[in-house]
Amino acid sequence: MKENILVVDDELGVRESFRMILKDKYNLFIYSDGKDALEFVKKHRVDVALLDIRMPKMNGIDVLKKIKGINPDIQVLMVTGHATLDTAVEAMRFGAFDYIYKPFDKDKLEDLVRNGVKRRKQRIKEKKELKHLEIVKKDLDERLQKAYSSTVESLMAAVTAKDTYTSSHSEGVAEYAMLLLEGLNLDLSSEDKEIFRYVCTLHDIGKIGISERILRKKGKLNKEEWKEIKKHPEIGASILQPIEFLEKFIPMVLYHHERFNGKGYPEGKENGEIPSWARILAVADAYHAMRSDRPYRPGMGEKKALEQLKAGAGSQFDPEVVKVALKLFKT
Ligand SMILES: [Fe+2]
Repeated sequence: MKENILVVDDELGVRESFRMILKDKYNLFIYSDGKDALEFVKKHRVDVALLDIRMPKMNGIDVLKKIKGINPDIQVLMVTGHATLDTAVEAMRFGAFDYIYKPFDKDKLEDLVRNGVKRRKQRIKEKKELKHLEIVKKDLDERLQKAYSSTVESLMAAVTAKDTYTSSHSEGVAEYAMLLLEGLNLDLSSEDKEIFRYVCTLHDIGKIGISERILRKKGKLNKEEWKEIKKHPEIGASILQPIEFLEKFIPMVLYHHERFNGKGYPEGKENGEIPSWARILAVADAYHAMRSDRPYRPGMGEKKALEQLKAGAGSQFDPEVVKVALKLFKT
């Protein structure tokens, strides 16, 4: 298929020279005025445009800028006389690929037009490749996301098999934690937010390592049993440790039972020593636990649970997180 070449020049003699030289090899569209030429560009495919610089109505630089605005793939060759040589050089800044000096040599013109056609083809090829790469990347991203969520689902299935309460509690905690995250306006990418949610869902995974007898016990736990239960943050963190994509938020699992006043476990960290994610999770976790019905007690009402959070601000919980929770957990 022949390429489409646009010629814009106000001098009849020059237009005829272009026609004679290029007519056998290309489809030529020849205009004496930029405005009409632009109408053509809007509606038809153009591979290379040859633009005279000095024209009475619209000069070649303006036509060049407009053509590039309509379709940046069109390769533009400026046609210049001695007086406009500087302008021709300047045109390269606006996207022209070269210029030809009038009166022009036939071979030189053919070479330049051939070059323009080649550049245009190269540009289209690169764009196609880029598009293909983008599609491949999107596909890989989707597969990765799928792998992430199935990893989390498998781990959750293990939790559910062991203890159904822990499983439904975890989903609820993740919901509250996401609300807090939004309310605190923390600077997190959407990908990180998703991983934060995953880790919130998995925060009690360490309970897999605790005896079912203790997990399902209806009465109060004795000292030994408490000692056992308190191991779950460390067990959880070590289960998740090998999963690289969760890495950033694993400390949240390890420290979700730390208290703001240093009286929590496993390490008795306090205030700012506790990672901020863990301070968020602690509030979401406690609130959901208070609201939930358990075999040995009914769930607390909203008002009372919020009062408990307020009472724990500064001792058990980070007061900044509680402030947001009081606003957002109200229905
Ligand atoms: Fe926990």
